[in-house]
Amino acid sequence: MFVQKTILIDVPIAAPVENLAQSTSKVLFYPCSGFDLEVPVTHFAPVIDVFWFVDRGYFRPDHQDTRFNHLDRPADSISPIFKHPDFDYISYTLEGPAVDDRYSVHIKPCVLTEFYLHIPTGRTIQLKFRRGYGFSGFDKEIRKLAVFFHRGDSPGEGGSGSKWYSSRNGRGTIWDKLEDGGWIVTDLSLAYDQDVFRIITDDINAGKIKKVSELLNPSFEFYSRKYNITFTCIGFLGHRYGPTLAFRVDRGDKMTAF
Ligand SMILES: C[S@@+](CC[C@H](N)C(=O)[O-])C[C@H]1O[C@@H](n2cnc3c(N)ncnc32)[C@H](O)[C@@H]1O
Repeated sequence: MFVQKTILIDVPIAAPVENLAQSTSKVLFYPCSGFDLEVPVTHFAPVIDVFWFVDRGYFRPDHQDTRFNHLDRPADSISPIFKHPDFDYISYTLEGPAVDDRYSVHIKPCVLTEFYLHIPTGRTIQLKFRRGYGFSGFDKEIRKLAVFFHRGDSPGEGGSGSKWYSSRNGRGTIWDKLEDGGWIVTDLSLAYDQDVFRIITDDINAGKIKKVSELLNPSFEFYSRKYNITFTCIGFLGHRYGPTLAFRVDRGDKMTAF
C-alpha cells in the first residue's frame, strides 16, 4: 500500500541542493533502483560524488526485473549505463563476478563503478551499480550518507517490501548513518505503516493534503520523538507511485526550538 489518493501536482520539480554541499559524506544511496537513474544523477551531480544504485536484478542474465532495460547484461560489457548530454563517460572498474545466476537466492555481490565528468560543473562523479539486496548493500558499503533516495519500491511491481525507516539493517539504520542535515527523498513507497512517514501518508490518504504546494508553502514539518529528528519537506522531484518529496533531516526538535 502506498499513497492511495491522487495529489495535485501544482509546483515545478525543484529541491535546492546547495546546503548539501557542506555535508562531509557526499554519498547518495538508492536501493531497488532498477533503471531510475536520471532524476537522482542529474539533480544531485552538483553536490554528490558517489551514487550507489543497488538492485538484486543487476548483471543477472534474463532476470525478470532487469531484462527489459538491459541491466541484466554482464557487468563487464554494459558500460556506459548512464547516457545524458550533461555527462561524459570516462571509464569503469569492477569488483566481483560479472554475471550471476538469475535464480540464486544467495546473490554473489558485484560492484560496477563508472566514472563520469559532469560537464556543467567540471566535477567527476562515480555511479556504483551493486548487484545484491538493498539491506546488505547498505550494511556493507555505507558508513555515512548525505542522501537516501527511495521510490518505486512497490512489492506488487517487484519491489522489496523492506522497511527502511523502522528496521535495523545489519550494523545500522538510516538514522545512524544519515548526516545531520542530510536528505531523504521518497515517493512514500512502503512508508504507510512506519512511524516516521506515516503521518504524511495518512494525511494525504485522508484528503487533508490535496496539493503538493500544501507540503512546501509553508514546509510540512514533523518531529519524531522516537528518533529525536525533525523532518522538513524542502522539495518535489516528480511523481512515481506517489509524489517524490525531499525531506531535510535535522537532529533534535527544531519545531519547538523557535
Ligand atoms: C518496481 S521496480 C522499481 C525500480 C525503481 N525504483 C523505479 O522507480 O523505477 C523494483 C526493483 O526493485 C528490485 N528489488 C526487489 N527487491 C529487492 C531487494 N530486496 N534488494 C534489491 N533490489 C530489489 C527489483 O529487481 C526491481 O528492479
